[in-house]
Amino acid sequence: MEKVHVVDHPLIKHKISIMRNEDTGPKEFRELLTEITSLLTYEATRKLPTYKTEVKTPIQLTEGEMVDDKKVTIVPILRAGLGMLDGILSLVPNASVGFLGIFRDPDSLNAVEYYVKFPEFTENHHVYIVDPMLATGHSMNYAIEVVEKHGAKNITVMSLISAPEGIKVVNEAHPEIDIYTASLDEKLNDKAYIIPGLGDAGDRLYRTK
Ligand code: URA
Repeated sequence: MEKVHVVDHPLIKHKISIMRNEDTGPKEFRELLTEITSLLTYEATRKLPTYKTEVKTPIQLTEGEMVDDKKVTIVPILRAGLGMLDGILSLVPNASVGFLGIFRDPDSLNAVEYYVKFPEFTENHHVYIVDPMLATGHSMNYAIEVVEKHGAKNITVMSLISAPEGIKVVNEAHPEIDIYTASLDEKLNDKAYIIPGLGDAGDRLYRTK
């Protein structure tokens, strides 16, 4: 079963094209990231288990199915991952949120951790690690390892734009993990930015440049 899912949809293509445009400002950029993340979430949560419940309609009793969204945790990788949080929470409102601060050392390009705050991961918890740009894959692999060390088992990765290099790195290290992305771009440049990409997602979300 293929573990890399490029969610191919006209609305996603349309919205990403606006996000890529260098003239798109932070307000619209944030709104579009939230919208696309919701569309990705629809696909990425397809395998969540449901439990049966009895529902009384105005006509009669029937059987319904519910998702136990208290057993879902979202882990945005700070800081750009925060831009994807509301898009998931709008569909999975009772999910818990764990925070993981990682930055990329500009010389070694290795991941360095500066903040970790997770809820308890129960045995059948489903964890979604989110970062808009899956570039080298090193931060994501690092995040997966930290989350696993805290006991998480069912992990899914979500990104807005991915480079083939990053997908390969994550997929080779964690072949069991599903990766959902809205676009598979061409490659990385020599500064590990995704081409064509959209620039620095954190800077564009929070106007820090
Ligand atoms: N992080 C970003 O924000 N953009 C890239 O292109 C790569 C990593």
